Amino acid sequence: MSAKIIAVVNQKGGAGKTTLAMLLAGSLADRGKRVLVADADAQNTALHWSGMGAAMGVVFPAEVEDVSGEEGKLHKALRKRSEEFDYIVIDSPPAAAASVTVSALRVAHLALVPVIPSPLDLWASVRIREAIVLARHKNPELDARLVVNQLQLNTLLAREVLGMLPEFGIPMLAANLKSRTAYRQCAALGASIQSLGSRAALAVMEVDALRREVEDLLRGR
Ligand SMILES: Nc1ncnc2c1ncn2[C@@H]1O[C@H](COP(=O)(O)OP(=O)(O)OP(=O)(O)O)[C@@H](O)[C@H]1O
Ligand SMILES: [Mg+2]
Repeated sequence: MSAKIIAVVNQKGGAGKTTLAMLLAGSLADRGKRVLVADADAQNTALHWSGMGAAMGVVFPAEVEDVSGEEGKLHKALRKRSEEFDYIVIDSPPAAAASVTVSALRVAHLALVPVIPSPLDLWASVRIREAIVLARHKNPELDARLVVNQLQLNTLLAREVLGMLPEFGIPMLAANLKSRTAYRQCAALGASIQSLGSRAALAVMEVDALRREVEDLLRGR
């Protein structure tokens, strides 16, 4: 069976694309799925994350490859690799109009758009909504979800911005990611959240819920 392809995209830098891509890929791989993280960002943050544990013998459970050089041919390159994996998670650069982002949205079954609940981040995310609408000309089955990241429910502003999200034009995933040190630790250790064990129990539950929702969305695709 061909891989289910998830593109993690946002025009806004620092919204949590790499964090979301690596947490989701790590969680799927920890459940025994064959997972490729296609690092389409020339900054290669995902690749760095996966290499951080090498000195300590930590192996990130998913394969991570630099595919940023594929640019507008990424969709073709990933279709060729599709039989090797159950899931391909594309981490993209903060550039909605970049050829590699357009190519990622052309081949993806699902676009995930991490958003930090702040007005500045929402304004900057409008461009990615337009890119998703455009991508549907060539990829009509492309589904998309906003994923709230760095949530701090105790702030009034965050609650107000959350209230605005339903009007954004992309449905919201029910699962979200709170702001947690454990997510930064994972990156520093080159690990998946599951490998942090009981130290990160709440974070593990949060990522599990997100993974399950994504698996459900992609069932039958
Ligand atoms: N839920 C979270 N809790 C704590 N820290 C987070 C969370 N999500 C992201 N971060 C931190 O925020 C910063 C930006 O996250 P990340 O690198 O994933 O964003 P990005 O969208 O990939 O950025 P870029 O556009 O530069 O590729 C990083 O330092 C990351 O560790
Ligand atoms: Mg990134």
